[in-house]
Amino acid sequence: LGNGLALTPQLGFNDWNAYGCNVSESLIKSTALAMHNNGMQAAGYQYVNIDDCWMTSSRNSAGQLVPDPNKFPDGISGTASYVHSLGLKLGIYEDAGTKTCAGYPGSLGHESTDANTFASWGVDYLKYDNCNNQGISAQTRYTTMRDALAATGRPILFSLCNWGQENVWTWGAGVGNSWRTTGDINASFASMLSIFHSNVGLASYAGPGHWNDPDMLEIGNGMSATEDRTEFSLWAMMAAPLISGTNIANASSGTLSILTNKNLIAIDQDSLGKQGTEVSASNGLDVLAKPLSNGDVAVALFNENGSTATISTTAGAIGKTGASSYTLTDQWTGATSTTSGAISASVPAHGTVVYRVVGGSSSGGGAGSGPLHAVGAG
Ligand code: DGJ
Repeated sequence: LGNGLALTPQLGFNDWNAYGCNVSESLIKSTALAMHNNGMQAAGYQYVNIDDCWMTSSRNSAGQLVPDPNKFPDGISGTASYVHSLGLKLGIYEDAGTKTCAGYPGSLGHESTDANTFASWGVDYLKYDNCNNQGISAQTRYTTMRDALAATGRPILFSLCNWGQENVWTWGAGVGNSWRTTGDINASFASMLSIFHSNVGLASYAGPGHWNDPDMLEIGNGMSATEDRTEFSLWAMMAAPLISGTNIANASSGTLSILTNKNLIAIDQDSLGKQGTEVSASNGLDVLAKPLSNGDVAVALFNENGSTATISTTAGAIGKTGASSYTLTDQWTGATSTTSGAISASVPAHGTVVYRVVGGSSSGGGAGSGPLHAVGAG
């Protein structure tokens, strides 16, 4: 969406994966404070997002949504003030139907009232869900809210949550800053894998201001550490929004070190804004490549299988040519090596090795890439 927001994929937190309906002002405030103090904000996390169940069961006499006073004693506006005082931004949730998925009032037919209410509260981000939609086209319903948000004059990132329906990737770029491509994730390798497979082929639809969203992170919620690193690796390679869905205030140092890995965040946030693509995929061994703005290429070697395997590709296959040697830096361990072209690693079950490949030229479209991309071209 050309609203100037999400020029790189959004980074933040959302309460749904870890807390479901148990959202509250105290949870949002304590999470924001933890992000401020634990290195996440410094690593680039910006949005603290409220999901379903924040409101009362009916609108007020003016037709406006009302925050549940037991859950949000200072309202959304008081919560937003606190989050803003830390230098973070506040996100909220609504639904493009008659009710949210949990049964609270939806925005269908109230888009302009609700957009104005969110803007007046200081909201910076809207996740817009798809339950109880009366069979009205998603493109119509989401476009109405896009226009209502624009009319408020407040910059509000617009996150479409219609689960990939109506091939949202084909029209999402004109309507939202990101769009969910699948149903809900859960904290299992099988769920993450299936979402990865649905999302990875949609690279051509993504770019600055408009991203494929394979749903929120489950890191810290029960997968193994290897699987958690795989989710972060694959989501970064796919230029996905990185929205943590874990208990941040009580997160382990291992979880925090994954969520704040600056190498992977730099791959996700690279200004070229290209979603990585599959170079090869056979027998559950996947190679992804993502061209980066400085001409480097990130390559991920992902082992879907239950036992260790060697995964191999080449510099040429990932779009790197023209050098007698390339430097590979492992983005998790920091180890570096040089190669004349072979790129290979022993990858544990469900694991992912990510290298940044430096040297030669890149056919992927980065600045300083090869003769097909001379300065001023493209
Ligand atoms: C469905 C969405 O896909 C989830 O992410 C979450 O927002 C729930 N609805 C809340 O009811």
